[in-house]
Amino acid sequence: ARVHHHKWEVKYQFKSPDCFQKLAVTINGMTPGPTIYARQGDTVVVEVKNSLFTENVAIHWHGIRQIGTPWSDGTEGVTQCPIVPGDTFTYKFVVDRAGTYIYHAHYGMQRSAGLNGMIIVSVPDGVTEPFSYDYDRSILLNDWWHKSTYEQAAGLNSVPFVWIGEPQGHSMTIVEADGNYVEPFVVKNLNIYSGETYSVIVKADQDSSRNYWAALNVITRKPGTPTGLGIINYYPNSPKKSPPTVPPSGPIWNDTTYFLRQSQAIKARQGYVIPPPPTSDRVITLLNTQNKIDGRIKWALNNMSFTLPDTPYLVALKQRLHHVFNQKPAPETYDSKNFDVFGVAKNANATSGNSIYRLKFNSTVDIILQNANTMTVNNSETHPWHLHGHDFWVLGHGIGKFDPMNDPKKYNLVDPIMKNTVPLHRYGWTALRFRADNPGVWAFHCHIEAHFFMGMGVVFEEGVEKVGRLPSSIMGCGETKRFLRH
Ligand code: C2O
Ligand code: CU
Repeated sequence: ARVHHHKWEVKYQFKSPDCFQKLAVTINGMTPGPTIYARQGDTVVVEVKNSLFTENVAIHWHGIRQIGTPWSDGTEGVTQCPIVPGDTFTYKFVVDRAGTYIYHAHYGMQRSAGLNGMIIVSVPDGVTEPFSYDYDRSILLNDWWHKSTYEQAAGLNSVPFVWIGEPQGHSMTIVEADGNYVEPFVVKNLNIYSGETYSVIVKADQDSSRNYWAALNVITRKPGTPTGLGIINYYPNSPKKSPPTVPPSGPIWNDTTYFLRQSQAIKARQGYVIPPPPTSDRVITLLNTQNKIDGRIKWALNNMSFTLPDTPYLVALKQRLHHVFNQKPAPETYDSKNFDVFGVAKNANATSGNSIYRLKFNSTVDIILQNANTMTVNNSETHPWHLHGHDFWVLGHGIGKFDPMNDPKKYNLVDPIMKNTVPLHRYGWTALRFRADNPGVWAFHCHIEAHFFMGMGVVFEEGVEKVGRLPSSIMGCGETKRFLRH
């Protein structure tokens, strides 16, 4: 295994990817930042210098499980103090599994401001992938606004995407998702949500006298942006030659059953199935609602909207600083009997809090994500939920209120896909299972950056006493200061 060293400088830079000049947060002058290439088992070392004049930064390696290095997860407030302007912080971690991953800022809304990029981990020497292809191209999809992230109202839309092929042209075969092989299946459109990664294979077997559109359309929110376009170029046509057809407009944005069907079609690849534990030790149900706190719109889980403490949880828990966050356990469920998920909640007020879920080490935990109507009549939003430090099994998806008597009978316990990000569909539920086997403190949150910013997240602790000595580089803020004085 090799060690890859990267030196990054995070700084402001004016960028105009769509001809409109905007201040972006960049890495070595680039947005998206440099792609990290590595082989399974390699160690990645990234030295991050914060050259922003006025704000902190932290970088999260999304999809990398950080086994044995929970302090390198890069989640400000959870696993580290922020990197203050002028400071340098070194992340060091092992990429333990091949796949396509991303990285991005985990502080404020800097991800939307341009601080993001890709991590491509190839299979070890001598190992072959269970599919073949001639070229490998990576595409990073991200939202881009003209307003600065500072100006953006917290509720501004960050949207999931659909990347679609030609209606009568190429189809795509999905073969990998979030670093796990998928039983290959063919789609016309790939429905992809914020925080997900997919590998698809496209066969260049169409009429080669022309080029084709690769089109990107917003789904699950009413699109307010034009279709994003790329050209699939067949040699020797000029890459500038426009395809002779109009760009495809994609599926109807609110066709939830269509999106649900794709979610339900994903299965682990035969020969690579890791079966889930047949039962769980604990079920946590999280009702996703839009609420009001002090007149401000928030997102809440079981009526609690999440706020980050000044002292990162990892340090607080390891050093037993019990006063720096609310010790009362976060709510395990909601009053499902009396809650109508299809209507506007009668009392939409919530509380905010920073309490967490402490999980028994090595226990099996089920999470039932339950969606609901927002504060607007006849409206529900899709939330892509992302778990740090683990992959989870996706046991099932449905529409309406989860039925604890009957829905678990329909769980896929045979060949469910493992992922780190999964959509919770409009008015739907999603059931996950994971093993709490990675000592550390891990965020679990909606990956729409504005939603997390508005409180849509929770935190899990497991086996924190097994975590090795914490590096002092993650300290310096809040109550962690005391550990720096010697
Ligand atoms: Cu890519 Cu905590 O997120
Ligand atoms: Cu959300």
